[in-house]
Amino acid sequence: MAADPHGFSSRDPLSPQFWDERFARGFTPWDQGGVPAALRRFVAAQARPLTVLIPGCGSGYELAWLMEQGWDATAIDFAPGAVAQAKQGAGKWSERVLEADFFAWQPAQALDMVYERAFLCAMPPAMWPRVAARWAELLAPGALLAGFFFFDSTPKGPPFGIDRTRLDALLGGQFDCIEDAAVDGSIPIFVGKERWMVWRRR
Ligand SMILES: C[S@@+](CC[C@H](N)C(=O)[O-])C[C@H]1O[C@@H](n2cnc3c(N)ncnc32)[C@H](O)[C@@H]1O
Repeated sequence: MAADPHGFSSRDPLSPQFWDERFARGFTPWDQGGVPAALRRFVAAQARPLTVLIPGCGSGYELAWLMEQGWDATAIDFAPGAVAQAKQGAGKWSERVLEADFFAWQPAQALDMVYERAFLCAMPPAMWPRVAARWAELLAPGALLAGFFFFDSTPKGPPFGIDRTRLDALLGGQFDCIEDAAVDGSIPIFVGKERWMVWRRR
């Protein structure tokens, strides 16, 4: 995910081409290869199935799994290569994977939750206020932003790490942090640097 020794032609993570090229070459070091354990535990603990959006879904393993749990999930990504991969993995739920830009996509029904994994850290820090504002727009009071947040101090990315003070400043105005836990089973680029967090829209 960091600077490319691979000679990729796109260097701009804000363009779909950047991600497309990496999916096309199978260079996806952020890819967990399955459904993270913390998400499985979180879903098992919920009293009812939720309507959830997976923005920047990449391979989107979570989509089919959430549907199997009875949740109402939609996965979006703006890179056609990611969408093709996620659709293939989603099997009978492939129509739940959409090619769309997170900043423009509109939900057909109210969301109970936005799932975060390697999406905020895919964006340069200058974009973070826009991401946070869109999360807040998409979620009504009481709805949840839940997932994995990447903490690091290297200026180069993606992945672009954040620190806790900055994350609090980014989200604290509109969300309350109701869960913050260490993560087991991280893949190498995130190990020791990601936390499972749940933020509730105020
Ligand atoms: C680092 S990957 C993470 C993929 C996936 N969430 C995962 O955990 O494996 C970031 C993904 O976000 C997508 N993405 C970036 N900006 C986007 C945007 N504005 N709208 C939709 N998808 C976007 C990219 O195409 C890419 O698939």
